[in-house]
Amino acid sequence: MGCGWGSLLLFMAREYSCRTTGISPAARQHAYISGRARELGVADRVSTRQGHFEEIDLPAGGFDAVTMLGSIVHMPDLTAVFARARALLRRDGTLYVSESCFRNAAAHEAFHSRAGTRFVGEKIFGWGDMRPVSELVRGAEDAGFSLIGLEDLTADYRRTIDGWLANVRSAADDIERIRPGLAGELERYLEIANAGWGYTTKHYALTCRKAR
Ligand SMILES: C[S@@+](CC[C@H](N)C(=O)[O-])C[C@H]1O[C@@H](n2cnc3c(N)ncnc32)[C@H](O)[C@@H]1O
Repeated sequence: MGCGWGSLLLFMAREYSCRTTGISPAARQHAYISGRARELGVADRVSTRQGHFEEIDLPAGGFDAVTMLGSIVHMPDLTAVFARARALLRRDGTLYVSESCFRNAAAHEAFHSRAGTRFVGEKIFGWGDMRPVSELVRGAEDAGFSLIGLEDLTADYRRTIDGWLANVRSAADDIERIRPGLAGELERYLEIANAGWGYTTKHYALTCRKAR
């Protein structure tokens, strides 16, 4: 849910022969994913739908697993999102959520309305709230999930941000053609993101089971 450019869909289809369904409101991602699925020979196992997870029509109890990698941060109503994920899963199905979070409630309170955080929310995310992981745990538990794993992925995600920084630097000329100054803005944003990474911000993964 919030499948981006489809990396996980394609990986699960290719490596584990899973049938995968990706949901994203972003129109351009769908044609890209179906093209890659054809190239990789997994088109029969990968489908996508355009829309918002909270609203799109999907079969209740129709999925073994639901994943949300870096997408719950864009969804304002946590209660609705966890309830929807649970409704889509079969009994014993698994929900995997990985997300960037302020390190605790106090850091969220102190930083979330600062100019730098507002820049990320408005210019990078569109809309986003980097809730502390305790809010995600509460949301999952309140929806009836059993928490079966909580992992700190901060060090792994630092490498992801380093990768984005390298991409911005190597594609700076193309990015500047979109808007002069954009490459520099993105570079500063990513450098600052990694400077606070592990201090004010973290990245966690929650694994939850629909145990009953
Ligand atoms: C930061 S990207 C992460 C993409 C992908 N999961 C990954 O790890 O590369 C967030 C994704 O969530 C999608 N998204 C945002 N709001 C959404 C919503 N309400 N329902 C479904 N997808 C949403 C965006 O279009 C985008 O594809």
